[in-house]
Amino acid sequence: PRLHRIAVIPGDGIGQEVMPEALRALQAAQARFGFQLDLTPIGWASCGHYVKTGEMMPADWKAQLQGMDAILFGAVGWPATVPDHISLWGSLLKFRREFDQYINLRPVRLFEGVPCPLAGRKPGDIDFLVVRENTEGEYTNLGGVMYAGTEREIVVQETVMSRFGADRVLKFAFEQAAARPRKKLDVATKSNGIAISMPWWDGRADAMHKHYPQIAVEKHHIDILTARFVLQPQRFDVVVASNLFGDILSDLGPACTGTIGLAPSANLNPERQFPSLFEPVHGSAPDIFGQNIANPVAMIWSAAMMLQFLGEQAAHDAILKAIEQVLAQGPRTPDLGGQASTTEMGQAIAAAL
Ligand code: NAD
Ligand code: IPM
Ligand code: MN
Repeated sequence: PRLHRIAVIPGDGIGQEVMPEALRALQAAQARFGFQLDLTPIGWASCGHYVKTGEMMPADWKAQLQGMDAILFGAVGWPATVPDHISLWGSLLKFRREFDQYINLRPVRLFEGVPCPLAGRKPGDIDFLVVRENTEGEYTNLGGVMYAGTEREIVVQETVMSRFGADRVLKFAFEQAAARPRKKLDVATKSNGIAISMPWWDGRADAMHKHYPQIAVEKHHIDILTARFVLQPQRFDVVVASNLFGDILSDLGPACTGTIGLAPSANLNPERQFPSLFEPVHGSAPDIFGQNIANPVAMIWSAAMMLQFLGEQAAHDAILKAIEQVLAQGPRTPDLGGQASTTEMGQAIAAAL
């Protein structure tokens, strides 16, 4: 049978509660679709590991992960014990950069059976992709604090965008738009206020558009774009954004579909020089950890995206169908208005498979 080698990193908080449900779904899919997963559980890349060892990951982390076909990731962060910039730059953000996962693909969809916080929306009205630049942009460690501790304290934090980096994410987004029926791409920008990088980003979008004349392109300043996500979500099909804008839009989009507990993501190195990483959009949710009430769908859908990337399209489709069925009929976790536990919902999805 087809064999896929997967590193399994639950991480912190509800990452540890939703990961078993993704593995349950993968197990069921494996039995039905005739592929095999070789799972390597990994306890590092977590704040628990940091507290024990003083580091987020062992020195040979890259060698350990390099030969994997994919990384399945829960969530990292436990700000009560480890500052977020230490835990995240020491794990997830390092993976994205060092494995050149330059695409962060984040689907947003309103499902049957999930109450929509926006009035008058039904399934089908909200169904789009956020394509987020994932290795550069506003996320940098370039800069510093000067005159620290004085009244003249100054902080500088650079944004870095490269033609290579912008063009490859724009190209990916145009390709996604071209493969979908609506032939529409929305570009997040802020070229009025962020007067250097954002007009430049718009220019790169225009240059790439020349190769895709069949796609209708619309640019939106990020401020009004957030308003349009709420007021007119039906107008979006593929939305491409810089690292920070994409981060914000990919929490806002899922919130418009009821809960961020549904939102999956694929951190892709499309050329497969390095393993890609699949994880929910949400974090470790310390506020609900330990109660077994986290919605497992974001994690399970992320696992399905992983199978799709590995060529297991039928298994992906079946998991999505099982998710749709359980969202429509229940059981549902509290963020969906239900009373089910994480385990009950995960078991129902695996059973529907
Ligand atoms: P969060 O996504 O963890 O939680 C935000 C809110 O959404 C909380 O009220 C939480 O209870 C709720 N929520 C999140 N996932 C849910 C789920 N599956 N089911 C039901 N409710 C859910 O964001 P935060 O509170 O800003 O961050 C908490 C920690 O997670 C921080 O350390 C942060 O840095 C980290 N974080 C990590 C990732 C990641 O690993 N990819 C992503 C975001 C945040
Ligand atoms: C995400 C998260 C991360 C990000 C954090 C945890 C660094 O919010 O995956 O969306 O900002 O990219
Ligand atoms: Mn985020």
